[in-house]
Amino acid sequence: MIITVTSLKGGVGKTTTAIHLAAYLQNQANTLLIDADPNRSASGWANRGKLPFEVVDERQTPRSDRPYDHVVIDTQARPLRDELVVLAESCDLLIIPTTPDVMALEALVLMLENLKSVAVNHYRVLLTQLPTQSNRSLEQVKTILTTTKVPLFKTGIRRFTVFREAADRGVLVLDVKDAKAIEAWQDYQRVGQELLEGVGL
Ligand SMILES: Nc1ncnc2c1ncn2[C@@H]1O[C@H](COP(=O)(O)OP(=O)(O)OP(=O)(O)O)[C@@H](O)[C@H]1O
Ligand SMILES: [Mg+2]
Repeated sequence: MIITVTSLKGGVGKTTTAIHLAAYLQNQANTLLIDADPNRSASGWANRGKLPFEVVDERQTPRSDRPYDHVVIDTQARPLRDELVVLAESCDLLIIPTTPDVMALEALVLMLENLKSVAVNHYRVLLTQLPTQSNRSLEQVKTILTTTKVPLFKTGIRRFTVFREAADRGVLVLDVKDAKAIEAWQDYQRVGQELLEGVGL
């Protein structure tokens, strides 16, 4: 399975998602993370610490001779329409993380229009950095996305400071000593399960 993580808006959790879904998939089968963001955030993450899967940038050849069962591709924000077509054509599923705020949702609407205009429909939206206490505006966001039939992961990723700590230390959230580490990891585990259950693949 090849999964590409993309969004128009920056800072919505693409790299955090790519890293943790690659970790989930690596637990199932050999997985490679390709860092296709010129900022090299995923490569930096790997270089700062230790991750349980291989990370290469798009120009590198993977070290392992073993074939990869899964590939996760992290990308930069704001892909142009042409780039989006290439990204979509080269994967089984596009994952589009979005935070539940107005600016991110406006960017999401634009992204969905772009995808529609190039006839891409193998994508799924992932809500990220959700408030840990559900509130009315969050429920409204979920209702709007569901009633407008936006393909959405049932699981959202909650906002936990431990994600930032994991990025700073170059490890998975699970490997940070923090009271919320397991809960944070479980959110990505659930998304990984949804993925493997074959969301539209
Ligand atoms: N679920 C979360 N809870 C709390 N903080 C988070 C969460 N997900 C990501 N973050 C933090 O938000 C910031 C942006 O996350 P990340 O780098 O994954 O986004 P991105 O979409 O890859 O950004 P860019 O567009 O710059 O590549 C980082 O500081 C990260 O640690
Ligand atoms: Mg990133």
